[in-house]
Amino acid sequence: MSRFWNEKTRNIEPYVAGEQPKPGQKIIKLNTNENPYPASPKVREVLDTVDIPKLARYPETSSLIVREELAKVLGVTPEQVFCGNGSDEVLAFSFQAFFESGEGAAPLLVPDISYSFYPVYADLYSIPIRKIPLKDDFSIDVSAFCEGNGGGVAFANPNAPTSLLLELSDVEKILQANPDHVVLVDEAYAAFSGVTARSLLPKYKNLLVTGTLSKSHSLAGLRLGFAVGDPELIEGLTRIRDSFNSYPVDCIAQKVAAVAVSEDAWVMENVRKICATRDRIADELRSRGWDVLPSKTNFLFASPKAMTAEAIYTNLRGKGILVRYFNKPRISEYLRITVGTDEEMDELVKAIDQITGGMDA
Ligand SMILES: Cc1ncc(COP(=O)(O)O)c(C=O)c1O
Repeated sequence: MSRFWNEKTRNIEPYVAGEQPKPGQKIIKLNTNENPYPASPKVREVLDTVDIPKLARYPETSSLIVREELAKVLGVTPEQVFCGNGSDEVLAFSFQAFFESGEGAAPLLVPDISYSFYPVYADLYSIPIRKIPLKDDFSIDVSAFCEGNGGGVAFANPNAPTSLLLELSDVEKILQANPDHVVLVDEAYAAFSGVTARSLLPKYKNLLVTGTLSKSHSLAGLRLGFAVGDPELIEGLTRIRDSFNSYPVDCIAQKVAAVAVSEDAWVMENVRKICATRDRIADELRSRGWDVLPSKTNFLFASPKAMTAEAIYTNLRGKGILVRYFNKPRISEYLRITVGTDEEMDELVKAIDQITGGMDA
């Protein structure tokens, strides 16, 4: 606490990112839903062509070369695409652009258990929110989002940390019930579910879909996220961007991303491998008595049987394996485990067996 902090800085509760290893530390990192496989070899080729004198110049503001390639891949126009410094930034801009702030504003509707950055952004921008409880099976309560009394909707699909997918027919019900407000569908994990709400874009001007190269495209370190929606929504995001930072995506990231987004075969092969490993490890854990939700993502949300989730988390950490534990109501008995390589996941299961000493099963 400093006497120079303003009221917002004093009171804000910042998002807590998953623990990052110290330089040189050897760990198995299964706590931030990264991709365990490297990005396409084309990325190396692009990096080898980086023109150092060009770094003396500011980048193109709108990431046009990325938007053009994304538009081709996603079957939309470049005017329907916005790029930012990771989808976190795109989400932050969306909150600022589309949801009203201040007392008396209709609240933004979000699931009570979802990406924990949503309440942080809402707080940062003084946007009132209403947290709608997930149902007992952790699925999104669609009817509660359709009561028509909100000032907008934001949720992840598949949801995080639950890993569960909401069917498109349900997404459409939410869009229809909130015609005068933006419905933001955060599709950070959509490649692993094979389901995207983008097909609904021609029908719904209030739909904004966000995506990222951090998960399926193995580029979390590059920081490239995007939004797809009606050109008027994209213009709104651009107005916010240009009131904050005209150059959110650096020129190297733009060059790399423009190539990486078209590497579909490479990406889908990694997605396939990750899904196969995910399903195998889910079965391994279930055979030990764990409750594992049916994941449509690159992570598992799972509750151990023989010991508390916190004890397993702590013991795994002691063995150099990081998973994510949320000490929060309703989910404090669950762990969020990113799907790593087969070898990493076998190490995980071995470590769990050592920790529980065969108490499971
Ligand atoms: C649901 C969800 N949305 C968005 C993000 C942010 O992704 P990025 O900022 O790397 O694009 C994450 C990251 O874990 C996430 O889980």
